[in-house]
Amino acid sequence: MQRRTLLAGLAAGATLAGGAVRAQSSAPAAASAMPAPALSDAARTHIRDTLAAGSQSLMISRIAQGKLKHPMGRQFADFEAAEQDGIADVLKGRTMPGAKPTGATVAPTDAEVEANLDAEGRAAVARFRDMAAGPEFEKAYIQAEVDGHRKLLGIQDAYLQVADDAAETDIAKLAKGRIQEHLVILGDIAKHLG
Ligand SMILES: [Fe+2]
Repeated sequence: MQRRTLLAGLAAGATLAGGAVRAQSSAPAAASAMPAPALSDAARTHIRDTLAAGSQSLMISRIAQGKLKHPMGRQFADFEAAEQDGIADVLKGRTMPGAKPTGATVAPTDAEVEANLDAEGRAAVARFRDMAAGPEFEKAYIQAEVDGHRKLLGIQDAYLQVADDAAETDIAKLAKGRIQEHLVILGDIAKHLG
């Protein structure tokens, strides 16, 4: 909800900015019709790094959805895939400030997710694709998610130390809370897997 409000604000700002450009020859732009500020380097880094780590988690979760047997692991993979679908949608929207907001979450295709992977992510996805279903897969998936969530937490904390953009800061704060919750859940699942 908050993200939609943020994006609606960004879209409104872009519309005002566009109007200011068109009106430039006949009247001076109002003070409130300043162009929307470009994303800062820190915000772009936050988007890129979150998308890379999040896409790794999303892709291995999509693979895991077809292989996991333990109900807790299966539930986590479903939650994680849905979460990362949403984050990918939000972050994509951040790079298109003039786009009309939509209340529906548009999940990225596998090809779009894979395009966001870094070398580490591509290796992880190949590994989980090749692994057979079974207890080893279950444990490896949960461990990979613990590692991935710790990495995602570090990315949010790094941006929150800079916090130079209101919308980006809100996204990082919201993401951080969910990441921390998932680390607790992953710890519980790891205990059940033994
Ligand atoms: Fe998560």
